Amino acid sequence: MARVREISQVAITGTGMAVPPRIVTNDELSKIMDTSDEWIRQRTGIEERRYVAPGVSASDLALEASQKALATAGLNATDIDFVLVATLSPEQYFPGTCSFLQAKLGLSTTSGLDIRAQCSGFVYGLEMGQALIASGQYKRILLVGVEVQSPALDLTDRGRDTAALFGDGAGAVILEAAKNPKHGIQRVITHIEGKHADKLGVQYPSAIGGVWIKPEHIADGGVSPKMDGRFVFKHAVTRMPEVINEVLLDQGLSVPDIDLWLFHQANLRINEHIAQGMGIPVEKTYNNIQKYGNTSAATLPMLLDECRRDGRLKDGDRIMMTAFGAGFTWGSALVTWGK
Ligand code: UT7
Repeated sequence: MARVREISQVAITGTGMAVPPRIVTNDELSKIMDTSDEWIRQRTGIEERRYVAPGVSASDLALEASQKALATAGLNATDIDFVLVATLSPEQYFPGTCSFLQAKLGLSTTSGLDIRAQCSGFVYGLEMGQALIASGQYKRILLVGVEVQSPALDLTDRGRDTAALFGDGAGAVILEAAKNPKHGIQRVITHIEGKHADKLGVQYPSAIGGVWIKPEHIADGGVSPKMDGRFVFKHAVTRMPEVINEVLLDQGLSVPDIDLWLFHQANLRINEHIAQGMGIPVEKTYNNIQKYGNTSAATLPMLLDECRRDGRLKDGDRIMMTAFGAGFTWGSALVTWGK
């Protein structure tokens, strides 16, 4: 009974991000596989991405981003009572990355879990975090999106269609009850269309067929991401506007009411296509795919942190964050900035 509280709004009270120092340019990739700076820039907008040094894991990047988010919220790790970690590149098959991060944060028995919703994981995290705080179950949640994808990439001609896209990084936010009832997460809507789960993913290790992993799975590249790029592209440019319109309709808002549009960074062409189709002015969008490539679940919190540090976020601004990813999963979150 004691934990039931009336919380109208859940705000983002801190943000942080971390990327490894090693920059990998398109030219560097073109030395090890049949690709070019021109192809990657024209087709995706990516100029460079970051790769971790050997031995650096998802929980290491997540820790750095979390510490920065805690500092901007004026909190210590022990003030957190639940940890959500969205990732498609966990450091082990199990236990989840949350356990490793929880220990590195110096927490004793604080609870948490991993979210497996791929590039949409951060939007799902906002949905879960809002519900868990609004219900009175928890007071302060650390939500992290983190990816260490570079070790799984097939850096050969065979893997060039996906290897050119992905990078490593982490972003974190703190979720707490909003002090101003007008601020905070207004609405989150997510979807899955599982029938397309085979269009993007890493196949092995897998229990299917009764074999966990065989040497030929490694030799055939079955342990690296595989994607039907055009199919994914078509669905992304359809589903993202659809879910944005669902959120706008639910909130009685229209496109000009939004101050900042943050899209998942899978391909600059996807985001330009959506912005053009919906009449979104380019100055109300912000992209970082040029610097980091596709950082999957880490993308949205990294964008948010960069915008906060650039002074782009003013109290009362409406931010629409939208993602699409493997599964297929997609979703959109409307947040009014401020504590
Ligand atoms: O984050 C999760 C969601 N992911 C997405 O939303 C990604 C959606 N898909 C895409 O962004 C694009 O489909 C890609 C960037 C992956 C590919 O761009 P595309 O314009 O759809 O190219 P394509 O797959 O149709 O390939 C065109 C050509 C092919 O050669 P041919 O068959 O025309 O001779 C590919 O083999 O480009 C070739 N190609 C490359 N060439 C140089 C594929 N990857 C590369 C590469 N460098 N890295």
